[in-house]
Amino acid sequence: MPSTFSAPKVSAWRMALMNASPDRADELAKRIAKQGPLLQNRLYRTYSEGDQVEALTEQLLAAAVDIGLKRSQELWDLDLSRQSKPDWHQQGAVGYTAYVDHFAGNLRGVVDRIDYLKSLGVTYLHLLPFFKAAEGPNDGGFAVANFEVVEPRLGTQADLQHLTQALRTAGISLCSDFVLNHVAHDHEWAVEARKGNPEFQNFFCMAHSQAEVDAWEKNLPQIFPDTAPGNFTYQPSLKAWVWTTFYPYQWDLNYANPKVFLEVVSAMMRVANMGVEAFRLDSTAFLWKREGTNCQNQPEVHWLLQAMRAVMEIACPGVLLKAEAIMPTHQLPPYFGLGDTPGPECHLAYHSSMMAASWVALAEENVSILQAVMQNTPAVPKGSAWLTYVRCHDDIGWNVLRPEAQALGDVNHQRLLKASHFFAGIAPGSYAQGASFQTTDLLTAHGTNGMASALVGMSTAQTSVDLQLAVDRLILLQSLSYFTGGLPLLYMGDELGMGNTAAEVLESRQGPDGRELHRPDWQEGLAQLRTQEGTVQHRIFSKLQAFAELRKSLPAFQGDVSVQAIESKQPTVLALQRGTELKGFFNFSRQKIDQLGDDGLAITLKPYGFVWLQTCVGTPARTLID
Ligand code: GLC
Repeated sequence: MPSTFSAPKVSAWRMALMNASPDRADELAKRIAKQGPLLQNRLYRTYSEGDQVEALTEQLLAAAVDIGLKRSQELWDLDLSRQSKPDWHQQGAVGYTAYVDHFAGNLRGVVDRIDYLKSLGVTYLHLLPFFKAAEGPNDGGFAVANFEVVEPRLGTQADLQHLTQALRTAGISLCSDFVLNHVAHDHEWAVEARKGNPEFQNFFCMAHSQAEVDAWEKNLPQIFPDTAPGNFTYQPSLKAWVWTTFYPYQWDLNYANPKVFLEVVSAMMRVANMGVEAFRLDSTAFLWKREGTNCQNQPEVHWLLQAMRAVMEIACPGVLLKAEAIMPTHQLPPYFGLGDTPGPECHLAYHSSMMAASWVALAEENVSILQAVMQNTPAVPKGSAWLTYVRCHDDIGWNVLRPEAQALGDVNHQRLLKASHFFAGIAPGSYAQGASFQTTDLLTAHGTNGMASALVGMSTAQTSVDLQLAVDRLILLQSLSYFTGGLPLLYMGDELGMGNTAAEVLESRQGPDGRELHRPDWQEGLAQLRTQEGTVQHRIFSKLQAFAELRKSLPAFQGDVSVQAIESKQPTVLALQRGTELKGFFNFSRQKIDQLGDDGLAITLKPYGFVWLQTCVGTPARTLID
């Protein structure tokens, strides 16, 4: 922990380079020459005070050089090869996300599932938080008590090293969460702050009077309005209100203090040296607080992310950054560095609007919101990619769709409210068995919980026809995600149509968090069925395998190839063009669509059917899969 924050007299990183082996020293010096000016510029924008910025730049460079010099030969070589091919992660990428404990017991258990993942074509594995979590409730591990120590319940540092190694050998990159916005209330920084240490008190955002709290709250939305209302938690020992955007035990970090940025980025780089190849930057949107705003997506967030990327490009350029910003479509491009201050930022970003809109399309049997989302989705810069998905460990948040719904005349968000009622199974004619999240008030749309299979109607199907339709819906959503995404991400169990967490298991889980509904334990029995023809599991699994194969074989599936909505002539059908060569048609209705004409193409889509076509000039369109 730096005790002072003025620029050191002798540059530590220059000294370190002088004493290093010439090949690493030369390479690191080259990277600093390239990234240094951008790093300093973004820090100036953020912190403005000259001395402070110089000191911070020096310390970040020293930390980056230290990490670069300590990087294992294998990771160093990987960095070099990836530097010469920045789109290394793009061709045929398929992601999978899972909780370590529910999926495989512990980190060692994950090693035993590598062959399974390979059979799905997985190249990228996001394991939900596996570093030490708060004692007691911890938001599924998102209340992090130590950024670098493995959660003892899940394994040891050696287990983690072993896992990253085994995954790398299998061609799979491990992605770890890095929770940027907050730490657990029992993280040592919070403990020190509570003890009265002013240095650490300045690590957190705090308000010192109820009036101050009220002034901020006026503009702040609530993430968990039912279970954790408000954005502040009074701490008697501090005689202050700590900013807690999420749960009261998750304390928001104060990025206006440059030491926080230094400490967080340094910890991230140390984790990279454990073999982690990608970071999911959790709750990125919330890092900067500004009076009079909703404190989301502030320009400083992007300057800091660009500074972070620059530091990572020096220390470990083979590591990917992924933005978790669950925000409306128009707020997402800046996370790729496409904002007012352009520059390399994240390699990947969740497309949460597309995900939520595909569920609305299913409920309404109408694609207008989804189409609007696609129209609002720009191409990403070279070397980056949209992360598409059907479900994840969180609820489906409906409010990201407000701008598109409103532009289509849905002033009071009735369409979103109806979709949320539909998936909670409380709308007439609904086949879904999900549950509303954070909505005791039936007149607000917030989120919906439930495994994909329960939301598409697999659990309520009475007849084989019902079941068939439900499975078709699930495959339709996945086909859209695999067609559109640079990195389609599967959520654990969806490849098998795994259902909601069993009621008795739910009861035994800690805390009232409704998202536990879609966090079931692994069912090996279902996994076994995937190889038996005629089973639902075989149908879903083999389709996903076929999607993955196609993605690998065609350059048009490269992550940065643009995807655009094209005219479909049917309100229930989404039509997309990927690059110049591929077209995809997705029928969100239970009606068969005959003769969908597009440029002379005559397409028939079965209920909830889809087709991917290869359309090269001068040759008839070829069906790749349907
Ligand atoms: C992210 C996570 C979510 C968590 C929140 C707070 O949104 O995906 O599960 O509750 O951050 O860390």
